[in-house]
Amino acid sequence: MQATIVLLPGDGIGPEIVAEAVQVLDSVSGKYQHEFNFIERLIGGCSIDTYGSALTDETLADCSQSDAILLGAVGGPKWDDPQAEVRPEQGLLALRKGLELFANLRPVRVHPSLVEASPLKAEKLSGVDILVVRELTGGLYFGWPKERVLVNGHERAVDTLMYFDFEVRRVVELAFELARGRKKKVTSVDKANVLESSRLWRKVALEVGQENPDVTLDHILVDAASMYLITQPTRFDVVVTDNMFGDILTDETSVLTGSMGLLPSASLGKTGPGLYEPIHGSAPDIAGKGIANPIGTILSAAMLLRHSLNLEEEASAIESAVDRAIADGCRTTDLGGKLNTRQMAGEIISRLV
Ligand code: IPM
Ligand code: MG
Repeated sequence: MQATIVLLPGDGIGPEIVAEAVQVLDSVSGKYQHEFNFIERLIGGCSIDTYGSALTDETLADCSQSDAILLGAVGGPKWDDPQAEVRPEQGLLALRKGLELFANLRPVRVHPSLVEASPLKAEKLSGVDILVVRELTGGLYFGWPKERVLVNGHERAVDTLMYFDFEVRRVVELAFELARGRKKKVTSVDKANVLESSRLWRKVALEVGQENPDVTLDHILVDAASMYLITQPTRFDVVVTDNMFGDILTDETSVLTGSMGLLPSASLGKTGPGLYEPIHGSAPDIAGKGIANPIGTILSAAMLLRHSLNLEEEASAIESAVDRAIADGCRTTDLGGKLNTRQMAGEIISRLV
């Protein structure tokens, strides 16, 4: 098959890890005789430096015409001034919104040989396999008004937590569909005891639950969920939640695996290209050293093959190669090992069968 993939390496360690994921994709395309055409573009801080904007209209158009997008990370201390008019994160948010990528899939699995790397007790971790489905184009990130105004001489800032019923429905429906291929359990996380938007969320989730009786649905308040994800992680299968809660809970959940550097994500819309990126950030402290863990990005490339190109066998081949490399003891420094970014990717590529 032929596919056009836009690469958005971004800032910090982004270029280093995306380069290795491309090596893996090249190796897969050679083995399975596909033709992947890569187009590289700027996003985030590097785009601000070059164009004065974190995502240009041209880049957004290139992305929307592609088959899939692979992104590294955006942001860094250089662009961190909270007073700045343009910020790297705006690029990522504009891309998610511009392509209507309303569902962000963040799978969290604990590899048996990495149990020791997790701060949690081993007995809590065996069998952890969670898929967080985070709503990505609504809620507090995008609600309006969103402003800073002067009120009686005081500066007042407002962000609005807003959801339409259809925004909730489409992401919850996708969570149910994904649960059907797993353990058939959806946990909807909200704050329905306080927030009106959460009461709408829960009402819609209940409706979708009634329409899909083959899948079990339960509801947990977000504060309790943050506790159970750590104390009883095996009780979860698919977790569906709003944009802000999902942002926070996935950083928390990543701790179970031993390193945030391991976790991939896929951002999907109803149609059009998907966006694939590791869940970690640009890690400015280690940028340029070539020591970042490339696994989160390599597994994101696997998700790209699965969800945007429908290449299930190729996606599984990458995931198995990663599993085997980890089982064989290959470790980057975040996991207490000595391999650098390129060596880790090499170990994975050599295990691709
Ligand atoms: C994430 C990140 C982003 C978010 C930032 C970089 C805007 O934290 O993808 O989880 O908050 O969504
Ligand atoms: Mg985040």
